[in-house]
Amino acid sequence: MNDIQNQGDLYLLVDEFYKKLLSDDTISYIFTDVVKIKLEEHLPILVTFWSQAILGTGGYTNNLTQIHLDVNAKEYLSPELFKIWLNHFYNTVDENFKGPKAEQIKTQALSIGTIMQIKIKNERS
Ligand code: HEM
Repeated sequence: MNDIQNQGDLYLLVDEFYKKLLSDDTISYIFTDVVKIKLEEHLPILVTFWSQAILGTGGYTNNLTQIHLDVNAKEYLSPELFKIWLNHFYNTVDENFKGPKAEQIKTQALSIGTIMQIKIKNERS
C-alpha cells in the first residue's frame, strides 16, 4: 500500500470518504438536508484544502472554522457527530494509504476537529 503522494490520491481519499459519510444515516443528513452540498463542487474544494495541509501546495483561502460554525448554527454538530466523522475519515485513510502522510492527515483531521469542537462549545456557553 502506498502513501498519499499527489492530488489524485487526495481526490480518491475524499471521494471514498464522502461515500461513507453519505451512506451513514447518522451523519448524512447534515450533507443532504442541513447543507445541500453539490459533490462535484465540494470534492475539489476538499482536495485543495488537504493538498495545502499535507502536500504544501497553496490555494485554500476560506475560513474553515467559520464555515463549520455556520453549519452548527443550523444544526448542532455534536461530539458524537465529530466521532462519526473522524471514524469514517480514519477508516478511509487506513483502507487506502500507508505512510507518514497518511499518519499526518489523520493527526491534522483530529486537531482541526478538536479546535472546531472547542469553538462550538464556546458559542454555546
Ligand atoms: C461533525 C463533523 C463535521 C461535519 C458534520 C462537517 C460538515 C461539513 C459541511 C456540511 C460542509 C459544507 C459547508 C458549506 O458548503 O456550507 C463542510 C465543509 C468542509 N469541511 Fe466539514 N464537517 C465536519 C468536520 C470537518 C473536519 C474535522 C474537517 C477538517 C479536518 C472538515 C473539513 C471541511 C472542508 C475542507 C470543507 C470545505 C469548506 C469550504 O467550502 O471551503 N470538516 N463540512
